[in-house]
Amino acid sequence: MTRIRAAITGIQGWVPPYILTNKELESMVDTSDEWIMSRTGIKERHILKGEGLGTSDMGAEAVKALCEKTGTRPEEIGLLICATVTPDMVFPATANIICDKAGIKNAFSYDLNAACSGLIYALVTASKFIETGSIKKAIVVGADKMSSIVDYTNRETCVLFGDGAGAILLEPTEDEVGIMDSIMQSDGSGRVHLHMKAGGSLKPSSYETIDAGEHFVYQEGQPVFKFAVTKMADAAAEIMARNNLKSEDVAYLVPHQANLRIIDATARRMGVGTDRVMINIERYGNTTGGTIPLCLWEWENKLKKGDNVILAAFGGGFTWGSVWVKWAY
Ligand code: ACO
Repeated sequence: MTRIRAAITGIQGWVPPYILTNKELESMVDTSDEWIMSRTGIKERHILKGEGLGTSDMGAEAVKALCEKTGTRPEEIGLLICATVTPDMVFPATANIICDKAGIKNAFSYDLNAACSGLIYALVTASKFIETGSIKKAIVVGADKMSSIVDYTNRETCVLFGDGAGAILLEPTEDEVGIMDSIMQSDGSGRVHLHMKAGGSLKPSSYETIDAGEHFVYQEGQPVFKFAVTKMADAAAEIMARNNLKSEDVAYLVPHQANLRIIDATARRMGVGTDRVMINIERYGNTTGGTIPLCLWEWENKLKKGDNVILAAFGGGFTWGSVWVKWAY
C-alpha cells in the first residue's frame, strides 16, 4: 500500500506595515541599537497598530492570500489550526475567527498553544489528519500579536518581539515528499523561567494584576537562552542522525527566530553554513508562531522539489522540536 504523506503545497506570510526600529526603542527605554544587534541580531520589527485589530486579522490576511495564490477555494479547507500565544480572546479560538474572516465554512478549527514551538506542533498535528485520509486540505497558521503582551517599559523583553503571521497549506501526496519525520518534546518545569503571570485560571485578571504588570511576558533571559541553545540544536541533530541525513544533504535549516546566537549554535551543530540557514530576525524580531512560515515564505522561490528542509524551534513551556520536510514543489 502506498504511504500517504502531508505535503506543503503553499506558503504565505503577512506582517503589519508599521515598523518599530531599534532607533525608536532607544527613545522608549534605556537601550541601544548596538546592544540589541550584538545580543539578538534584531534591527526592526513590525507592529500591528489600530483599534479592534488582533491576531486573527493578521492570520486571516495570510490565509486569504494563501488561498488566492494556490487557487484554493476557502470551502475546500477541512481543518485550520492556529498556533498562537496571543489569541484574540480566551475563547472562542482565534482559528474559528480566522475561518470566519477568510470565508472558510467547512472546516473544524482550533488553537494550539506551544509558544514558540507552536508552529511545529501544529504542522505535525495537521499532517496526521492528512496522512490518515480524513482531511484533504488543511491550513496551519502561526500568528502572534506579541505587542499586546509586551511591556514597552521593560528593555529586557520589549526589544525581542514583533507581530506577524504565516499560513501553510497541507495536502496529501503519494510522492516521497512532505512531512517526513518529527521530534517534539516539552518540559513544563521550564515554565518558571518564561510565562505570563496573570489572566489565566490560576490568577484571573484584577486591578492588582494589572497594577503589578502581570499581563506581560515574564522571561529570565539567561536560563531560557541556555535551554534553547541546547534543546533546539539537540532536536535538529537528532532528526538528521536518525534519518541518515548528512549536513551536505540539508538544503536549508529553518530555525525559530528568537536570537541570532541560538540560530548560529544550531547551524554549527548541524554543520550547515549560514548560506543554508533562513534568517530574517533582523527585520521581524521574534514573532513567536509566525517566525517559521515567514522564513519559508521569503525563501519560497529558492526552494526546489525534493529539497531537505529542517525546521527547528524552542519556546515557552518549555517546548521544543524539529521537523524534516522534503519540499514538494
Ligand atoms: N538594552 C541594553 N541593556 C540591556 C537590555 C537592553 N535591551 N536588556 C538587558 N540589558 C542588560 C541587562 O540589564 C544586563 O545588565 P547588567 O549586567 O548590568 O545586569 C546586561 O544587559 C546583560 O543581560 P543578560 O540578560 O545577561 O543578556 P543576554 O546576553 O542573556 O541577552 C537575551 C538577553 C537577548 C534576552 C537572551 O538571554 C536571550 O535571547 N534569551 C532567550 C530568548 C528566547 O529564546 N526565548 C524563547 C522564545 S520566547 C517564547 O517562547 C514566547
